[in-house]
Amino acid sequence: MTNTVNFIRNMIHGLNTPVKLDDNRETPVIYLDNAATTPPFKQVVEEIEKQLLHYGSIGRGKGQKSEHSTNIYVKGRDLIKKFVGADSDDYTVIYTECTTDGLNKLASALIESPDDIVLTTRMEHHANDLPWRERCKTVYAEVDSMGRLVLEDIFKLLEAHHGAIKYVCVTAASNVTGYVNDIYAIAELAHHYGAKIIVDGAQIVSHRSIYMLGDRPEETIDFFVFSAHKMYSPYGGGAIVGLKSVLDEHIPEFYGGGMVEVVHDDEVIYVPSPDSYEAGSPNYPGVVGMLKAIETLQFIGFGYIKRYEQYLMRLTIKGLLKLPGVVLYGDYECTNDRVGVIPFNLQDIPPNIVAEYLANNHAIAVRHGAFCAHPYVSRLTNEAVQGCNAPGGMIRVSFGIYNNEADINALLSAVKEILNLES
Ligand code: ALA
Repeated sequence: MTNTVNFIRNMIHGLNTPVKLDDNRETPVIYLDNAATTPPFKQVVEEIEKQLLHYGSIGRGKGQKSEHSTNIYVKGRDLIKKFVGADSDDYTVIYTECTTDGLNKLASALIESPDDIVLTTRMEHHANDLPWRERCKTVYAEVDSMGRLVLEDIFKLLEAHHGAIKYVCVTAASNVTGYVNDIYAIAELAHHYGAKIIVDGAQIVSHRSIYMLGDRPEETIDFFVFSAHKMYSPYGGGAIVGLKSVLDEHIPEFYGGGMVEVVHDDEVIYVPSPDSYEAGSPNYPGVVGMLKAIETLQFIGFGYIKRYEQYLMRLTIKGLLKLPGVVLYGDYECTNDRVGVIPFNLQDIPPNIVAEYLANNHAIAVRHGAFCAHPYVSRLTNEAVQGCNAPGGMIRVSFGIYNNEADINALLSAVKEILNLES
């Protein structure tokens, strides 16, 4: 395993870049905030640089560079479809900036009236709650005392609304606890009641393989949205993979060039998807990076990724449990249905103090607060979140495939140090 980990660590751009600590020592960062953003693969950085040598306008110009770039951009849609198991003409791929951008585009296009009803959950990141909440009626499936999504609630809400719920919008994995939801079972429920399913894939896409077509037609995922900056490509790439027939019935509230057949003084004729959802000049470096990141993740293999990240999570939980004063959230005994995300607190020590100490004294990067999932964090901590910059919330450690045992040991020893300082 060590050889593989070292091989993968060597693929990470900037892994050894030093930062300055409070005592002026310089040391590389131990980055445990991969649920927020992952560092890029070297292969991704190299590919972006290479393709920028041949960069020309996408779908808008003549000339070799324009044709080269357009070709990569257009063909990339097929690679993405295959990546998420949506290799069918029923689907199209829309390039976006990130998951938030994709979900907002979808909400702005699909919601037809303030009376439309969307079912979402109390586990969601704000990006899969607010775009719906601001446009139509939303109903919420609850989480249980461990923080797992209550599937029965989804069933009850669908049943209670007698087929009036249009979309079921759910995350594939939580950015707070890492719980992986059974999106195929939820899809089956949604379809049974005439709804479509929209999956926020931001936190799953670099951790598990996805198969939108499902094993059975009832399980098909209708829309899957993800970001490249959580899969080892820098910010700016992302995609919606969705049903072309549905997308073609709508237009997002995002207008500009590239999405029209013709504009007359008093009439506009729009082209079909994906172009109708991609107004403006395309983000070529974002797409190039995302495509290379996909290829690299496939090369590493999701079987390995899942096994290894589970190992890192279990090792960390075991270590944290040995430290009196650590409060863990969620189910830390059965972690099979979690990606490598661990929220915790240190008794009586505010999470911002812990995060600052870890960064300033040990170059350990974690995230603290309520992770843009306030309703969920309030439920897990049994305390209402007071605001983004207010005290409270949790500390979150989240793994990538390049983290190693040394990273975990450094975290555990720093946490022990904080607890000792405070005792
Ligand atoms: N959604 C990202 C996170 O959870 C930014 O940190």
